[in-house]
Amino acid sequence: MHKVQDILETRDFIMSKTDYRPMIGMILGSGLGTLADEIENPFKIPYSEIPHFAKSEAIGHANELVIGELKGKTVVAMKGRFHYYEGFTLDEVTFPVRVMKALGVEKLIITNACGAINTSFQPGDLMLITDHLNLVANNPLIGPNNEELGTRFPDVSEVYNKELRNLASKVAEKQNITLQQGVYAWWSGPAYETPAEIRMIRTLGADAVGMSTVPEALVAIHGNMKVLGISCLTNMACGILDQPLSHDEVIEVAGRVRATFVELVKGILKEM
Ligand code: 6GU
Repeated sequence: MHKVQDILETRDFIMSKTDYRPMIGMILGSGLGTLADEIENPFKIPYSEIPHFAKSEAIGHANELVIGELKGKTVVAMKGRFHYYEGFTLDEVTFPVRVMKALGVEKLIITNACGAINTSFQPGDLMLITDHLNLVANNPLIGPNNEELGTRFPDVSEVYNKELRNLASKVAEKQNITLQQGVYAWWSGPAYETPAEIRMIRTLGADAVGMSTVPEALVAIHGNMKVLGISCLTNMACGILDQPLSHDEVIEVAGRVRATFVELVKGILKEM
């Protein structure tokens, strides 16, 4: 379990390497990391060189922190994230969010590639996360609470900030982008869900399902940050179509949607 001291050491390390003082953070999901390549005059640092960061080797992720300017805003982007299914603890998964907060980040844009459960959605659609279902019997806030970081029992009635959601919808409309809305269910993975599991979670109110985002969002809320969640629906979830799922398909569709996704997020950043 990380200590506050670890967060401060990592913050000081990053601040000693760059003069940028980011106000907005971004976590870029599978196939969506290219947004970080648009950051101007970037300062890049591999996770492996950042004190107290875990080491990630997931496919489809670059694993570096990119800090710089995008649409006139100073941003810090995670190009690649730590997943629970890789064996990282939720403390390791969410440590970068603690560091972002310590760096001064007040607004966090969390993105992911996920499966669509709502049959009115299509592969390649983008979805604004309105709320989530935590289907994993774990929570990153379990453990002794440090009041310096946040309250013991955080209110989660509005994890995904309403103002930011309204802004995202407005920008999407202006850009002529279809932006679906729905509830994101976090399932641990790494196996995709069975058709029976998808039927179950549709009944429970899930519109989409994925293997990330919820731990980071919970820690951001604990730290009193404003969260915007955007999913790229790369495929229909298991059992909706009569065809198997593959990670290659997920990466391929994320690649196809990337340009639209990048334009949307840049448009949102501009207005933030
Ligand atoms: Cl169908 N499920 C999960 N858990 N993650 C996904 C997915 C499905 N499609 C892309 N990522």
